[in-house]
Amino acid sequence: MIDDLWYKNAVIYCLSVGTYMDSNGDGIGDFKGLMRRLDYLHGLGITAIWLMPFQVSPNRDDGYDVSDYYGVDPRYGTLGDFVEFTHGAKQRGIRVLIDLVVNHTSNQHPWFKEARRDPNSKYRDWYIWSKKKPPRANQGMVFPGVQKSTWSHDPEAKAWYFHRFYDFQPDLNTSNPEVQAEILKIMGFWIQLGVSGFRMDAVPFVISTKGANVRKPEEQYDMLRFFREFLQWRQGDCIVLAEANVLPETDMEYFGKDGERMHMMFNFQVNQNLFAALASADTRPLIKAMKATKPRPATAQWGVFLRNHDELDLGRLSNQQREQVFAAFAPTPDMQLYNRGIRRRLAPMLDGDRRRLELAYSLLFTLPGTPVIRYGDELGMGDDLKLPERNCARTPMQWSNEPHGGFTQSDKPHVPVISGGPYGYEHINAAIQRRHPDSLLNWTERIIRMRKEVPEVGWGDFAIIPRLHVY
Ligand code: NOJ
Ligand code: CA
Repeated sequence: MIDDLWYKNAVIYCLSVGTYMDSNGDGIGDFKGLMRRLDYLHGLGITAIWLMPFQVSPNRDDGYDVSDYYGVDPRYGTLGDFVEFTHGAKQRGIRVLIDLVVNHTSNQHPWFKEARRDPNSKYRDWYIWSKKKPPRANQGMVFPGVQKSTWSHDPEAKAWYFHRFYDFQPDLNTSNPEVQAEILKIMGFWIQLGVSGFRMDAVPFVISTKGANVRKPEEQYDMLRFFREFLQWRQGDCIVLAEANVLPETDMEYFGKDGERMHMMFNFQVNQNLFAALASADTRPLIKAMKATKPRPATAQWGVFLRNHDELDLGRLSNQQREQVFAAFAPTPDMQLYNRGIRRRLAPMLDGDRRRLELAYSLLFTLPGTPVIRYGDELGMGDDLKLPERNCARTPMQWSNEPHGGFTQSDKPHVPVISGGPYGYEHINAAIQRRHPDSLLNWTERIIRMRKEVPEVGWGDFAIIPRLHVY
C-alpha cells in the first residue's frame, strides 16, 4: 500500500488573508501579516493551509469574482510577498492549497469586457450568450432570495449572459478548449509559485454543459481527468480538492473509478447528516451518510468539515430533518440563509458549550477523511449577525485583547472585529487561550497531534459498531 499520499494524513486550516493579520495598519489583512503568524500555525500543528481567493478582484463576493488570475490583489501585497509566504510555509512543512475559481470571472475581468464590447473578439465565446431571454432564466439560482435569475441582459453586448451565481459573475464557457487551456495555464502558474494544489470552486458547474438551449445540464466528467493529468505531470504531489455538493451516487464519477479524477472532495453528505444527528441525538443519519460515502478509490480522500465560510447548506436533508436542525441551532430567521442553510459559526450554534464543541471536534478529527478546520474555530470564535449574508462568519481573527483583537493597528478595520458579548475579542483570543492549558486552543492543538499520530483514521477502513443503549 502506498503510504505517502500527504493529503490522506493532513490537517487543513482554511483562512483568508484579508481577515487574518494586518501588518501595515490599513485595516486589511495581508501576506506580510500572515507570514508573522506562520509559527502560530506551525505550533497548532496543521499541515496545510487552504488559502481563500487573494487574486485581483472587485471583491463583491469576497474574492470569488476574479479580475486577474495571475496577480495578487494589491490590498494583500505583491506576487513577491506571496512567494515569501509559500516559501515560509514550506520551511515549516506546511503545504499551501489555493482556491481555483474558474466557473466564472468577475464582470470586470478584461476577458469579459472585451467579450461584451466586440462580438468578433475571441473572448466572446469564452462566455455564454443568448440573443433572447432564455426560457429557463428564472431557474437554477445558487443564492435564492438574493439572486433573481441566472441570465442577465448586458446593454453593451446587446445580449443576455449566463451566471450561475451573482450577476457580476459571468460564467466562463468551460467547454471551449481555449478556456480549458487557460485553466491549465492558471494552475501551472501558481504551482510554479509554490502551491501544492487547489480547492476547486463549484466543480459541478465548471464541468456542466451550459447554454440557453440546455434543458438539463450534464456533467462532463472527463474534464476532471484532463485537469488532474496536467497537475500530475507538472508536479506529482499536487492535488485538487473539489467543492462538489453532490449525491453519493455520483461520488465515484468525481473520484473516477480508477482514482483518475479528483484527489479529494468535501464530504457534504456527512456534514449535513452530522448536524442532523447532533440535533436529534440520533446517530442514524450520520451512519447512513458514512455508509453512502464509503466507496472511494484507494488514492482518493474525503475532506471532512463542520463549518466553512459559506452557509451550512442543509439542502440534502429531508424537510423534517432540516426543521429540526434549524430549531436546534438556528431558531431565528436571521441565523438562516437562502431557505436552506445556517450562516452561523459553530461555537454559537452549540451555545459555546465546551463539551458539545469537543464532541463535534472529536467527530471532525476521527471520521474517515482529512479534517478541514476554519481559522478561529480553534478559539471558538463567534459570528456577527449584523453583517449581510455569509459575511457574518468572516470576521477578523482574534489574536489578543488589544484593540481590534490585535488584528490591526488601524482604528477602522475593513471588517469589524467581534467585540463585546460572549464571543468578543476581549475574552475569546489566542493570547489568553495560549496561557491556559485547558483552553480550546490547547485542546485543539492536542487533538491535532493525536490525529497525526493515528494515520489509520485517514487511511483505514471503518466498521459501524452497534452501540449499547444506556439511558
Ligand atoms: C463557492 C464558494 O465557497 C462561495 O463562497 C462562492 O460565493 C461561490 N462558490 C461562487 O464562487
Ligand atoms: Ca494591510
